Amino acid sequence: MNKVVKVDQSICTQCGLCVRICPFTILEMNEGCPSTIAEKEKACLLCMHCASICPVKAISFEDISSGQKMADNPTSASYNELKGLISSNRSIRNFSEQPVPLDEIRDILKVADFAPSAKNNHLNKWILVHDTKKVKEIMSYILEYVKENKISKEVVSEYEIGNNVVTLDAPHLLFGIAPKEGAINPYTDTTIALTDVDLLFHSKSIGACWAGYLTRLTNANPKIRELIGLDDSMVVYGALAFGYPKGEKYDRLPHRNEAELFVI
Ligand SMILES: Cc1cc2nc3c(=O)[nH]c(=O)nc-3n(C[C@H](O)[C@H](O)[C@H](O)COP(=O)(O)O)c2cc1C
Repeated sequence: MNKVVKVDQSICTQCGLCVRICPFTILEMNEGCPSTIAEKEKACLLCMHCASICPVKAISFEDISSGQKMADNPTSASYNELKGLISSNRSIRNFSEQPVPLDEIRDILKVADFAPSAKNNHLNKWILVHDTKKVKEIMSYILEYVKENKISKEVVSEYEIGNNVVTLDAPHLLFGIAPKEGAINPYTDTTIALTDVDLLFHSKSIGACWAGYLTRLTNANPKIRELIGLDDSMVVYGALAFGYPKGEKYDRLPHRNEAELFVI
């Protein structure tokens, strides 16, 4: 019995796309139909990728609308363009092997230099792992580290069933780094710049996913720090896994809780 995710079995075509897209493998095929795995249901992110990707819209969520239809042609006014870009940006977790050209990434990072920072410090820097072999090496160090330290067990259990929640099997990684000391607000500065990069990627049909596990585990793991050339004075404040999307395309805006507004 599905509690969070409801599947209308009368229209479900049993294509299995929803099962494949779920970032935490909450869904499984059960006698030909998708259904939630009871003990994993609490881990549902309510990201609604399953509902969004379903070609016949057979999936809904209890008490939550499945999202408005995206405008086909956002108007040319810049507010509406930006609104369209921000609201249509989804986490992409399926990538083609085709590399994103280095020059294109460099151009995007230059635009992100326009991001504001505390006192215009701009102490944030980038480490771009463009070489896919190095991305794989990083993932092998992550697996070794979480096993040895008996932490984040879900990273291993998900990986073993083909779901890489850390680097998402993306061809490239981008680390946003800043000095541990001396910057006024390095976390915020780096996050703003990374957010700009994320949106610029999206505007050029490059898919990305914020990589929280990777951020935390890179800071903690001396082998990865050495591999990416991160010295002790620097901290990773955020990271993106990115590349060209393979088969992920959405036509619905995601559900979001509306942030409460206090007008005083
Ligand atoms: C700071 C941050 C860290 C995240 N870390 C991960 C991660 O390690 N692995 C992952 O699969 N998704 C990660 N995500 C993606 C979120 O799960 C995703 O943004 C959320 O479920 C909403 O889905 P959407 O971005 O497709 O709308 C992260 C997002 C943010 C903002």
